[in-house]
Amino acid sequence: MLALSARRPRLAAFVSAVLVLVVSACLLVSCGKKANEIRIGEFGSLTGTTATFGISTKNAIDLAIEEVNAAGGVNGVPLRVIVEDDQGKPEEANTAVKKLVEQDRVVAVLGEVASSRTLAGAPNCQNAGVPMVTPSSTNPKVTQVGDFIFRVCFIDPFQGMVAAKFSVDSLKAKTAGILRDIKNDYSVGLADYFDSTFTSMGGRVVADESYSEGDIEFKAQLTAIKAKSPDVIFVPGYYTEVGLIARQARELGYDKPLVGGDGWVSDRLIDIGGEALQGCYFVNHFWQGSEDPAVQKFIKAYKDKFGSSPDALAALGYDAANFLVAALKELATQDAGGFATLVGTPTSATEQPRKEALKRLRDILAATRDFPGITGSISMDEYRNAVKPAFFLTIDKGDYKVVGAVLP
Ligand code: PHE
Repeated sequence: MLALSARRPRLAAFVSAVLVLVVSACLLVSCGKKANEIRIGEFGSLTGTTATFGISTKNAIDLAIEEVNAAGGVNGVPLRVIVEDDQGKPEEANTAVKKLVEQDRVVAVLGEVASSRTLAGAPNCQNAGVPMVTPSSTNPKVTQVGDFIFRVCFIDPFQGMVAAKFSVDSLKAKTAGILRDIKNDYSVGLADYFDSTFTSMGGRVVADESYSEGDIEFKAQLTAIKAKSPDVIFVPGYYTEVGLIARQARELGYDKPLVGGDGWVSDRLIDIGGEALQGCYFVNHFWQGSEDPAVQKFIKAYKDKFGSSPDALAALGYDAANFLVAALKELATQDAGGFATLVGTPTSATEQPRKEALKRLRDILAATRDFPGITGSISMDEYRNAVKPAFFLTIDKGDYKVVGAVLP
């Protein structure tokens, strides 16, 4: 008896403490979801070995949305971006997109940069009928996930062709080695596209070696490649490994150019690779030196806000956000009632019309032609890929120089 009555007040205190916690958690959640706003999701690698990808993209999306909101939002409704850090891991990317779609009830998702992570997240959007726009994932499989998946960048068959043609025509390469990241969809695909163009132009791929993201030792593979003395080594990887590969290639005495794709893009690349990158080449989506006033205006706004120059990821993130905003504005013009169902959190009464409005938003995105982006004019092809020019850059004394632009 004594024990029981002594326990009861404690139980009551415990129950009320739990109640207080639950109520305040609910309040917090509903405060987090404002009635008069449109929520957009974003997922990216804000930490990990590709952290600059996620951070540059996030900065530029913040800038774009801030500008839109300062000008009155979409039809007077402000936009809010909810960002999830996937730490550069596909499993986390899947969880992040699931949360954005199911819990936050976002109307669209921006991201990811890396193709493997976009591929991991995209089925959640496709199945829920929520449009996804990746700024920079270039592997063809990404938009093949389904008709709700879009990108504002070119694809890897094109960039692989650009790199191979440049190697043959400008570097006069007759033989190439390849060093690919074997678990990375982007790297494997791009290596294959480079190989097919290089071979079809009469070149020979004399060595094809692999590594996995996170590796720091590449000398065994580089020794095998160097033994075949290729005229170039194609390294379709991400900047952290590429910087280390360049250093180790030079340490082994390989002194010809390394050539790569957009995965090289990061201010960290030169910090890691240093002089080993002198005279190397890579494909990019963006050239900062462009005289286009819109490009220079964007560069200035970005520098003023973040204190550093925007890279290609930033430029593409900015374009992806504005591409989505333009479609939301068009939806508001075409169908004000449908647009209204995207504001705030859906109720059981708005669930179905909201689904239809999202489908209409999808149709508007798919029909976009000649959207004026910082990275060039953006038109969706029938597979929801953008058709855009590519830039070829070289690294000279720790700085980037443009060596050419290739039209699609
Ligand atoms: N295109 C790369 C991918 O799909 C990502 C990337 C884009 C990296 C642009 C850097 C710059 O995985």
